[in-house]
Amino acid sequence: MTPAVVLTGFMGSGKSTVGQELSRLLDVEFIDTDTELERREGRTIADIFTNDGEAAFRALEVDTVLDVLATHDGVIALGGGSITNPKIVDALSGHHVVYLKITAEQGFSRVAGSDRPLLASADPGARYAELLAGRLAVYSGIATQTVDASALPADVAAMIISGLPQAS
Ligand code: S3P
Repeated sequence: MTPAVVLTGFMGSGKSTVGQELSRLLDVEFIDTDTELERREGRTIADIFTNDGEAAFRALEVDTVLDVLATHDGVIALGGGSITNPKIVDALSGHHVVYLKITAEQGFSRVAGSDRPLLASADPGARYAELLAGRLAVYSGIATQTVDASALPADVAAMIISGLPQAS
């Protein structure tokens, strides 16, 4: 199977929007692992967090992501926290992993008001910045390509294409 292009980055970095655009340009399939997890469970991520808690969500997440990485060779968008699981980090080896990099201000302005269970806090902006800061080293460490995700989705997709490894 051809290794997939895997998009990672924090909430609001545009993984789903850029992934759809990228898959259209490359003429390959697109799968968002959060959407796939919700499809498998028949309920939303917010519902899983509320009723079963984060640990239950993370267990479903690792199963879904490992399945998708093993079976899908198009464009894959990961949930922003997937990369905190070492099994997922291991499974990313050999894939082209693109880090959609965004500042806390830009990213939070995109997700403010949306239903993100991890941001349920008296100060969601501070929570966003704190979580992002804790993950920066992992995002950078696993990336084979880093792009400035503050640009328009079509431009981000074009930057990714220009950095894809040449097929041999
Ligand atoms: C999470 C990010 C979300 C989703 C879940 C947990 C995280 O995905 O998987 O709410 O831990 O950063 P997006 O990055 O697509 O918002």
